[in-house]
Amino acid sequence: MKAVVSRRYGSAALGDVDVPVPGKGEVLLEVRAAGVDMGTWHVLSGRPYLMRVMGFGFRAPKTPVLGRDVAGVVSAVGAGVTEFAVGDEVFGTCLGAFAEYAVAPVSQLAAKPAGLSFTEAAAVPISGGTALQGLRGVQPGQRVLVLGAGGGVGSYGVQIAKAAGAHVTGVCSTSKVSLVRSLGADEVVDYTVADFTGTYDLVLDCGGHRSLSRLRRAVTPRGAVVLVGSETSGPLLGGFDRALRAMALNPFVPQKFSLLLSTERGEVFDELRVMIEAGTVKPAVDRTFPLSEALDAISYVYTRRSIGKVVVTI
Ligand SMILES: NC(=O)c1ccc[n+]([C@@H]2O[C@H](COP(=O)([O-])OP(=O)(O)OC[C@H]3O[C@@H](n4cnc5c(N)ncnc54)[C@H](OP(=O)(O)O)[C@@H]3O)[C@@H](O)[C@H]2O)c1
Repeated sequence: MKAVVSRRYGSAALGDVDVPVPGKGEVLLEVRAAGVDMGTWHVLSGRPYLMRVMGFGFRAPKTPVLGRDVAGVVSAVGAGVTEFAVGDEVFGTCLGAFAEYAVAPVSQLAAKPAGLSFTEAAAVPISGGTALQGLRGVQPGQRVLVLGAGGGVGSYGVQIAKAAGAHVTGVCSTSKVSLVRSLGADEVVDYTVADFTGTYDLVLDCGGHRSLSRLRRAVTPRGAVVLVGSETSGPLLGGFDRALRAMALNPFVPQKFSLLLSTERGEVFDELRVMIEAGTVKPAVDRTFPLSEALDAISYVYTRRSIGKVVVTI
């Protein structure tokens, strides 16, 4: 089968590999679409180096085929699988989604939302799941600030916070203002023109790498800052040092910093499916790229040109 293969960090190409075989608790998917996010770039580049020691492979990628977000059709089931059958349309995460076929654990899959194309469904799992987990506990009437609102996680963050009844302010650059407004944000701040003002009950920080003191000033005395991610070019930690400093600061300040490490679970994707089918959340797909141009798709996201989500179609 055709797949985008990376045998050493920093390079990848379309090549031929064997179709994988599903093991116990796994299914083989005929991949129709695969989502792209900043994580895809991290796996391709091997940067920051922190992720190599976190288990992605020290000298070379542990999993050569790129891509994690997936939407497709079950074409074979492994031993013990009762949740899905051949022909089912599913979405979720796996290792090696930039390929014609991929093996996925059933624990990381859910039924594809009715009314969504495979392309839209592949744009949901990691970004939507991360936003959902970062916004747990938001109450109606609370003020939520989403930094990086025009990106993958942020575009879901705006919609999920609105669905919870919050007053939502989205912060993004000029080209993303109209998307963020269309997603339902009550206020949109173009940070290239002016910085955001005021205080919020919760800040979902998906980009911009603002200082911890700036983030503290953005929340109420009992407010919370959820650190989702924020890129710097630092080769070792890539901005993660700020999260470590936030954890060290926590006991000494009234506001609460939390570091989000989202999990990829079928139950989370099922929650998203329900929200999508109810019409409260919709993937914002900016562009699609064919499998042969998957590296261009990653570069498009990495250089921050993407508005919402980007998907590779197979
Ligand atoms: N913790 C976890 O479990 C988890 C899970 C998924 C992703 N992540 C991380 O979360 C981050 C976001 O991921 P993503 O996939 O959403 O990336 P993305 O699609 O690139 O979105 C990030 C957004 O931040 C915006 N941004 C940059 N500087 C900004 C600033 N000063 N103020 C406001 N917005 C700014 C970027 O565009 P503009 O500058 O044009 O507005 C971009 O739209 C990444 O660091 C990723 O690695 C973490």
